Amino acid sequence: MEYIVINGQKPLRGKVSIGGAKNAAVAIVPAVVASSGICIIENLPAIEDVAKLAIAIEGLGAKCRFLDKTTLEVDASCITEYRADYEVAAQMRASYYLLGALLGRFGKAEAPMPGGCDFGYRPIDYHLKGFEALGATCEMEHGMVKIYAEKLTGAHIYLDCPSVGATINIMLAAVFAEGVTQIENPAREPYVVDTANFLNMMGAKITGAGTETIRISGVEKLGGGRYTIIPDPIETGTYMIAAAITDGDITVENIIPKHMDHLTAKLRDMNCIVEECENSVRVYRGGPLTSCDVKTSYYPGFPTDLQPQMATLLCTASGPSVVTETVFNNRFQYVSELKRLGASFKVEGRTAVSKGSCVLTGAQVAATDLRAGAALVLAGLAAKGETTIGNIYHLDRGYECFEEKFRALGADIKRVSINE
Ligand code: EPU
Repeated sequence: MEYIVINGQKPLRGKVSIGGAKNAAVAIVPAVVASSGICIIENLPAIEDVAKLAIAIEGLGAKCRFLDKTTLEVDASCITEYRADYEVAAQMRASYYLLGALLGRFGKAEAPMPGGCDFGYRPIDYHLKGFEALGATCEMEHGMVKIYAEKLTGAHIYLDCPSVGATINIMLAAVFAEGVTQIENPAREPYVVDTANFLNMMGAKITGAGTETIRISGVEKLGGGRYTIIPDPIETGTYMIAAAITDGDITVENIIPKHMDHLTAKLRDMNCIVEECENSVRVYRGGPLTSCDVKTSYYPGFPTDLQPQMATLLCTASGPSVVTETVFNNRFQYVSELKRLGASFKVEGRTAVSKGSCVLTGAQVAATDLRAGAALVLAGLAAKGETTIGNIYHLDRGYECFEEKFRALGADIKRVSINE
């Protein structure tokens, strides 16, 4: 079993370079399945979810070759299989993108009900309704989702809520639907825009990604090409918060500052200085941290994937804060672990209230999911004494070189293996 061990209270200083966006990469790798050419995808994050997706598409018959740690070459022209392997695909949420990509290309697709982080009920009904609107039939059998279509035809699809997964999945299938598909109330997250740009690079005709309406004119075939994934906004935000919580001074490089407007505004409210340059931000405290309230929302609102990290920072600020989670119904599971380090929160439904001014001290804790794990690392970096974090496989799914990057900033952090 592996653990992360941190000796906290070291102000982090220096520069850190951000990798490719996980939630764009986990859509773009499956999207390659729709291509009949050779694709080279650059700036992939070196994380478990990407490695597993490459294995999943190899299982379908694609030829995958990592040219280096962050560049993957895929020849999907030879894919004939439309059923994703249960064992590999069931481990990740993003395997659901194989459904849209395979349905578009072959008119049929089978993949397991997706796994991923546990934030309560995470249905895929909007994905399936979207496929049905395009003319497909969806069935569920023994934990597998099975989808078939004689023909896909463009449709007008309204999403009840702007789901990232449903927007991308419908876009993937609609690329090959005859006529025009219009998605109303789509997710506007940068990952959606990145996936649309990737599909367009291969020959798709998608407009409006990132706005209130996406239009997709069907094409018969997608070719190959070379594409570079955008930097990860959530990794970026995690290091910005690390600067604030450790009273450090970090320049986060290779990023798109515009994608961070939500966090930059909150950090400035909390008395932090955020200096924006073209491809980087520098973050440090301008004085003692003050509290503020945070409500998660869809992009461009405050992202749910930074909620645990932000709540951790807020509990160390002076004064009370209210954190409201509107995207998922159970994303405060990490709070009980944070309390072991001395955090004080009262959780009621989708709201967590912190009285603030918490003095964190080291403890033994366990990550409950990916971003919860990141929040515990941040807490450990700020805490007095030693913190040991278990279940760190969650972190490996979504953060590349996590300990190495923090160590380079001056953190006393290491990974240890303990044989049980
Ligand atoms: N929803 C439904 N039905 C659906 C789809 C979504 O009710 O068919 C609901 C969800 O239950 C949730 C809301 O709609 O309440 C939004 O969910 P969304 O579909 O946007 O989330 P997702 O696609 O499952 C992706 C990311 C998550 C990120 C969310 C929100 C991937 C693989 N996952 O999940 O990333 O939290 O969007 O931005 O892209 C993470 O990176 O830590 C992570 C969990």
